[in-house]
This record gives sequence, structure tokens and C-alpha cells, in this order.
Amino acid sequence: MLGLKLPTDPRWVNIAQMNIEDILVDHAYCEQKAASSCISIIVKYPEKKKVVETLSPIVTEEWGHFRMVIRELEKRGYKLGNQRMDEYVIRLQKLERKGGARERQLMDRLLINAIIEARSCERFRILSENINDEDLKKFYHELMISEAGHYRTFVDLAKEYMAADVVKKRLDEMLAEEAEIIRTLAVRGDRMH
Ligand SMILES: [Fe+2]
Ligand SMILES: [Fe+2]
Repeated sequence: MLGLKLPTDPRWVNIAQMNIEDILVDHAYCEQKAASSCISIIVKYPEKKKVVETLSPIVTEEWGHFRMVIRELEKRGYKLGNQRMDEYVIRLQKLERKGGARERQLMDRLLINAIIEARSCERFRILSENINDEDLKKFYHELMISEAGHYRTFVDLAKEYMAADVVKKRLDEMLAEEAEIIRTLAVRGDRMH
């Protein structure tokens, strides 16, 4: 799915189903991080008009997702709680190469965002197909479509600043690294990733 090289361990959804509160709390912070990450890219590359134009509406969308997750928590009588350590994202962020051309760094950053969208999209699909809660089935189906669109937006935006073949090659390298991260990360039912 969306270039991912390793599908999610099938055991994940079984344990996630039993930890819906934890999953929703972790998910809320995934949306917050998605919005925050777009804001940081805008602040770091204010001279790049296309970056500012493309990412500003995504900030709004991701924050909208955050609010939607908060509503799902409230409906069930759950509270947001503290942010949890996100080992998946921490390890992915290490793939950003420091130094070198500004555009190359921007490409790395955008592709990391794209990959997080792809993996989230896959997890949302799995939840929407397997979860018993009818409300959440619909909820995750809608979000899955939105995150797939973001994946493409990030990859296309990277191609505005680097040659298409360079982007494709780097994306492929990063997807291989991501598969390795997923393979070595513990399967936890209280995390979205
Ligand atoms: Fe989102
Ligand atoms: Fe997204």
C-alpha cells in the first residue's frame, strides 16, 4: 500500500481493538504532530512559495483531524491524557540528512512526512476493516482517504524542488529503512504505529 514494503503485523489490530482509549489518545497526538510538522517546515522554508501554499491548508486539515479524534474520545468518556513516546517517528526522523543543499534537506523532510502518512493510512485501513465499532469504522475509512491524499501531496511537493528520479530513489531508500523500523519495533496495541 502506497509503496510500503512491509505490511503491518496482523496481531496489531487484535490488540489495538482492546485498547481503543490508548489508540485514540496516541492517534490524537499523531494528528497534532502532523500539523506541527507542517508548521515547522513552513517556518524553516518561508522563501518557498509552493511549500507555504501547499502546507498551510494541510495544517488546518490535520488540526481538524485532531479535533475529530478529541470528539471520539469525549463520546466514549475518555480523556486526552499525556503525549506518549513515539519511537516510530523518532527513528524515521533520523533519516533526515543534515547539511548539504537546502532543497535536499527539504526533500528528506517531506518524504519522511509522506511515509508517516502512508503508514497511518495503512493502519487506518486496517482499523476500518477490522474494528467492531461501527462509528470508528466509518471514521477511520474517511481519515484513510485523507491521509492517502497527503502522502501524494508531500511526494509531489518534493518534486517541485528536486528532480523526479532523485525523489523516487530517495523515497525508495527511505521506504526500505521504514520497513526495517517496522520490522524491529515492538507490536504494541496502545500505539498507532
Ligand atoms: Fe490527519
Ligand atoms: Fe495527514
